[in-house]
Amino acid sequence: MKVLVLNGPNLGTLGRREPEVYGTKTLADLEKVLNNRARELGVELGFRQSNHEGQLIDWIESEPSDAIIVNPGALSHYSLALADALRGSGKPVVEVHISNVFRREPERHRMVTATAAKGVISGLGFDGYLAALDYLART
Ligand code: DQA
Repeated sequence: MKVLVLNGPNLGTLGRREPEVYGTKTLADLEKVLNNRARELGVELGFRQSNHEGQLIDWIESEPSDAIIVNPGALSHYSLALADALRGSGKPVVEVHISNVFRREPERHRMVTATAAKGVISGLGFDGYLAALDYLART
């Protein structure tokens, strides 16, 4: 089984970006933690980050995988194009947010891409990605 992990805009600066919201660990740290768990689970992992909506859509359309974990960053709140691509993939999708978006500004409560997800995890930090991976590996 192969799981594609996609991170959207501004997630490449994790560790430096608003550490009081997102913590001090970097995207490379996240990749390491997920790779370790994937190895334990016998799952193959694809790990990508882009600041560009179209690039994320291209990966959804072209990267072979059985399931997708996505943190679309701010695109979560308005990108119908990304929602369409995720829905169109026909794959199980789990959307993850490091912060609890429902405890934040009202603009972040509108969840557009989540309409294409099987489930959403918000506010558990990197553990949210691990929970998503565990879940997808079982399905
Ligand atoms: C985020 C939450 C979004 O509202 C924000 O724009 C991000 C990160 C999160 O992981 O908590 O870039 O997706």
